[in-house]
Parts: sequence; structure tokens; C-alpha cells
Amino acid sequence: MSPEQILAELAARREHDLPTHGGRTLAYVYDSGLAEADEVARQALSMYASSNGLDPTAFPSLLSMEADLVGFARSILHASDEVVGTVTSGGTESILLAVQTARDAARVERPAMVVPDTIHAAFAKAAHYFGVELVTVPVGAEHRADVAAMTEVIDRLGDRVVLVAASAPSYAHGVVDPIAQLAAVTRERGLRLHVDACIGGWILPWTPGAPAWDFAVEGVTSLSVDLHKYAYTPKGVSLLLHADAGLRRPQFFAHADWPGYTMLNSTMQSTKSGGPLAAAWAVVRLIGADGYRGLVERTLAGTRALAEGIEQIEHLHLVERPDTSLVVAGTDDAVDVFTLSDLMLDRGWFVQPQMRFGDEPATLHLTISAATADSVGEFLTALREAVAEAVAAGPVRIDPALAEAAATLDPATLDDAAFDALLALAGLTGGDGAVAVPERLGPVNALVDLAPPRVREALMIAFLDRLTR
Ligand SMILES: Cc1ncc(COP(=O)(O)O)c(C=O)c1O
Repeated sequence: MSPEQILAELAARREHDLPTHGGRTLAYVYDSGLAEADEVARQALSMYASSNGLDPTAFPSLLSMEADLVGFARSILHASDEVVGTVTSGGTESILLAVQTARDAARVERPAMVVPDTIHAAFAKAAHYFGVELVTVPVGAEHRADVAAMTEVIDRLGDRVVLVAASAPSYAHGVVDPIAQLAAVTRERGLRLHVDACIGGWILPWTPGAPAWDFAVEGVTSLSVDLHKYAYTPKGVSLLLHADAGLRRPQFFAHADWPGYTMLNSTMQSTKSGGPLAAAWAVVRLIGADGYRGLVERTLAGTRALAEGIEQIEHLHLVERPDTSLVVAGTDDAVDVFTLSDLMLDRGWFVQPQMRFGDEPATLHLTISAATADSVGEFLTALREAVAEAVAAGPVRIDPALAEAAATLDPATLDDAAFDALLALAGLTGGDGAVAVPERLGPVNALVDLAPPRVREALMIAFLDRLTR
């Protein structure tokens, strides 16, 4: 194929993807609205796409850019000169490494970590990968970590606890956990405390009145913040910071006992493109602290307007008052959130449904970028229309037998054929019997929402397995 044909085909394939720019995709992507930042990022990304972060002696420029990014982060996170940092590929990798490091530093049998039950799923993944038990504690008022309840659990588990973690803010509810109070507990017991600021860590430094949450709090031993979220850099960049080099040491891996080069890595990847790091360096240099302050002001003003607008729409309510730039809306019985998200997509807006959790019904998650802030009025108009249409459509009707089956299935008893049948019942199979992403996800989501989390997980894994065969 010619380069022109290839680029045309890429453009055509991308047509059904969500737009990454324009502020109408309220999850997954972040848009500063600054064309200059996107352009400098693209150029830096391509300049460094083939360089290899595997060996800092071979590509010293990568090491220097990493140091610059860590230095900038230190300046906005009240970090002392003792704080050290690593650039990783994303929030999940930062969290995986924080957990692995804590586990390996402690070297206890049956390691456990204590977290609020709103903690990001990346901690469950870390627990799964590294054999650390994830002990979740129900949150208290306003969906914030319940420090007294967590303290009880920490004391009950005793020496098994290798890490305590909390969010600033949580993804699902957009509220900042009481980091200072938790730090008082962990400090007294000599425990590590990780602050997951993956989504909020580049917003909170410029948020007036934010509670103490970063290295200003004595006892915070590590912190993750993603640059590919609110630093508006291309995907593939997060920072994992440790309060000192000693705390970080078990994160590093070396292997000399084979006939090739000595493998020496600070992250999970070994060969890693310098592209995302260079692009992040470029964007952070271009926007700078004053630029980010301005972007945060606009984003928070937009978030407030959006939250106030939601409160005025009949059938909708705010689940919590947003601490930063994440809005979580609930609906009454007249409106099904899964139908509502489909109807918003019809109007060119992607909003993310979050399934029921415990006793709490499904909600809608909205991540506000600087670019979204400029079109809140348009968003609210679309939302009002979509709510009216959802009310008229009524709730998704699910065959009671199917609903009963979804709620009572035991995934452990299902074989491949049973999963095939279930995927077909759930509407995830096309006419030819092959699995496919349906045009409208509302009815599928409404059914899957009835299933307990373990069944949802098994069903989604079966779906992904077939989708990628
Ligand atoms: C609070 C929080 N932690 C961790 C993550 C995981 O980040 P990533 O998707 O970059 O792996 C996210 C992503 O939204 C997040 O919001």
C-alpha cells in the first residue's frame, strides 16, 4: 500500500472511534483545547518513537527528561528533595509498581493492603498479579474513606499489612479521601501510605481550598499522578513518586545471570518507547505551571456549571458534590442510566455508565476537560433532551427469567458452551453467531448490571476472549 492509501485507511478505520478532541468524550480522553500543545506533542512523540528507555546510558536524553518531569512534579506536590520519581506507562503501571514495591519491602507471609472500597480497580489487578490480599473497607459519609473503620482493619491484620492506599480523588465519585487523617494512622504504625492521585494530581495543585493530600502530608510514602490525564499529554505517561530513595529501592529490577546484557529496569516494561516521555516533557514545558493554573480554573468553572445544571434537571441528581473535575450523576426510577448514555451518544456526547455497586444503583460518570468546559451549555441542552426521551422510552424491559438467571448464575459452573449461550442471550452476538460490539449498549448494560460483579467479570472475559480470537 502507498503511504496515502495507508493514511486514508487509518482515517477510515478511526471513524467509529470516540473523538479524542473537541471535549465531547467525557471519559478516557482529556483535551486541553490547545492546538499548539497537541502539535508539539505529536512532533516530540514522533522524534522519540523509536528511542529505547531500556538503557539510560544509551539514550541519556530520556533520563534527563524524566528528571525534569519529576522535578516539575516535586515543585507542585510539596515534595522535599528526598522525593524520587519514575515515569511509567500509565496509572495502572504506577499502582502495580507501588504495590509490588511495598510487598517486596515488607517480605511478610500473606501480605495484605487496606483500601477504601472506592479505590481504583488497578489495586485489584495489583492484588491479583502480586498475591497481595486486597482488603476493602466500606467508605463513610460522602463516599470518603472511613478512617476509623480502616484503622480497625489495619490493626486486626497487624503485620500482614504492607500498604494502605486512598484516592485524591476517587474515580467513581470524584471525592478526595481524608489523606491527612489516614496518614496520622499509618505514620504511627510505620506503614506505607500510597495516594492514588492518578486522575486528580494535576488538578488539585491549582484547586483553591483543596484539603491536604500530597507530600505536604507527613506520612504519604508514595503517590501516583498521570500525565496522560490532566497534564494533557499523549497516552502512555504517569509518574510514580516515593518519599525517598530507600522506599523506592525494591521497585528496581536487575538480572545479570544470563548470557545477554544485564537487564536493569525501573518499570515493568523493559524496552520502552521514548515517545510518550518526550511528548510529556514537551507539553509540560509548553503549558507550564501558569498555563495549568488557567486550564484548571476553566475546568473547575465548567464543572461547577455542569453540576448546577444537572441539579436542575428533573429525574437527575448529583451523587456527590465534586471536589475536582469529575461529576457523578444519579437518576430516579423514571430514567435508566444505560438508556440515557445511549441517547447522549446519539447526540454526539460520550458519558460513561457505572454499574451498580453494593446497594447503590448505577450512575453516570463525567470527566470534564478544559475543552468540555467551553461547551457546558450545549452539553446540558443535549442532556435535557436525552432525559425527556429516556422518560418517554421507559426503563429497559428485561425478560424476568433472564434477569433471574443473571442474578443467580455461578460462573464457576459454566463451561465455554454455556458462555457462548449467555453472550447470545445478552445480545453480544451478531447474526452469524460471532460476538460483536452492539450498536446500542443500553439493553446489554442493563442486563449485565443485574449480575453480581463476579458474574459480570466472567461474562466480560468470555466476551473479550471471543472478540480477540
Ligand atoms: C484514580 C485512578 N487511578 C488509577 C487509574 C488508572 O489509570 P490508567 O487507566 O492510566 O491505567 C485511573 C484511571 O482513570 C484513575 O482515575
